[in-house]
Amino acid sequence: MKVLVTGCAGFIGSHVAARLIKEGHEVMGVDDFDVYYSRSQKEKNLLPILLSPQFKLVEDNLSTMALIKVLKGMEAVVHLAAQPGVRGSWGASFHRYVTNNLQVTQKLLEESKGNKLKRFVYASSSSVYGDVGEVLNEEMMCRPRSPYGVTKLAAENLCQLYHQEYRMPTVSLRFFSVYGPGQRPDMAFNRFCHSILHDAAISIYGDGQQVRDFTYVDDVVETIAAALTVEEAVGQVVNVGGGSPTTLLEALALLEEISGKSCPKTFLERQKGDVMSTRADRTKLEGIFGTKPKTPLREGLARQWEWMQKFVQSEDEEQAIRAQAQPITGVDTEALAQAKADEKAGKKAARKAKAGKAGKETAAPAPEEAPKETPEA
Ligand SMILES: NC(=O)c1ccc[n+]([C@@H]2O[C@H](COP(=O)([O-])OP(=O)(O)OC[C@H]3O[C@@H](n4cnc5c(N)ncnc54)[C@H](O)[C@@H]3O)[C@@H](O)[C@H]2O)c1
Repeated sequence: MKVLVTGCAGFIGSHVAARLIKEGHEVMGVDDFDVYYSRSQKEKNLLPILLSPQFKLVEDNLSTMALIKVLKGMEAVVHLAAQPGVRGSWGASFHRYVTNNLQVTQKLLEESKGNKLKRFVYASSSSVYGDVGEVLNEEMMCRPRSPYGVTKLAAENLCQLYHQEYRMPTVSLRFFSVYGPGQRPDMAFNRFCHSILHDAAISIYGDGQQVRDFTYVDDVVETIAAALTVEEAVGQVVNVGGGSPTTLLEALALLEEISGKSCPKTFLERQKGDVMSTRADRTKLEGIFGTKPKTPLREGLARQWEWMQKFVQSEDEEQAIRAQAQPITGVDTEALAQAKADEKAGKKAARKAKAGKAGKETAAPAPEEAPKETPEA
């Protein structure tokens, strides 16, 4: 099958692209390497598939590009590109959520409605629910507690509409706190691993008793791959939860056990939009796909820990090389410094002009300023 994977350089997108390639599909990947977090992490995510003849990467922004470029000839779309993050969705950055989560989804649906797609899989989120119950099932009324959740739910509703009105074969999958190698740096487990590796205190928002249905990334990918072919999935909204709800503190204790290190903990004020509990009712998931989660939390965390050690080491080494790099002898260092300053000024002006053109008037938070995430986004 020819599959368009949006957000292919991101955490989940890169795993999905790799899995589909392994299964023999042809993957067209689109990503604009959004500055929400480092380009270097996204490039590393793509390394295992970059040279595959079954993979084509288009670096572009879905909100401004001509979609025909990537939709032509596609048989399915897996739509993962989005502006994630609960905390950052309040305030001035909201327009980024509207553009990347809502408008981009509408544009993709509109421009692919006549393409006779076999599937349009949309990455929804447990954040659409809010605090509506102990165990969350798809029939419940959704009351998102964050602007992020509002945009994810609105885009999910659009998918339902295009299914009803245009018979588009949409499937919306509500992911619950996905983790594993490649996890976004703003997410809880990644931050915990980082703190443990650097012997720094771990910041926990609230009392750490928040319950999350942590889901290992391969289990999510398994469901996405199945959604491309299972007929009963068409037109459905389905929870994808890991099946073993755990408190944040319990998960952290497990990580300390795996790493053999414990860290001082700083408890910070609960964040706006951070719900107390997300537990997925898996009845529909298991009924439609027949799948059970394959990766228990301990095993998944151990894999994330292993990946994180290598990742942090390679980032630290790269930084050290850059810091030690000497100017090449014989070069006029003053002229070089001037040329660099001119290049920087030129790039800044070009970025400003591009941001204006792309409707991104407010600069995204720089990776180091990106908000620390609540665990479910
Ligand atoms: N990670 C989770 O726990 C989780 C939970 C629920 C839902 N989701 C959803 O799953 C999807 C993937 O999440 P993730 O954690 O992999 O996030 P991610 O940020 O790692 O990946 C998203 C990718 O989309 C790209 N992107 C964003 N806007 C774009 C645009 N306009 N044009 C082109 N590319 C664009 C980004 O550069 C990024 O690489 C998102 O839709 C997210 O809302 C994730």
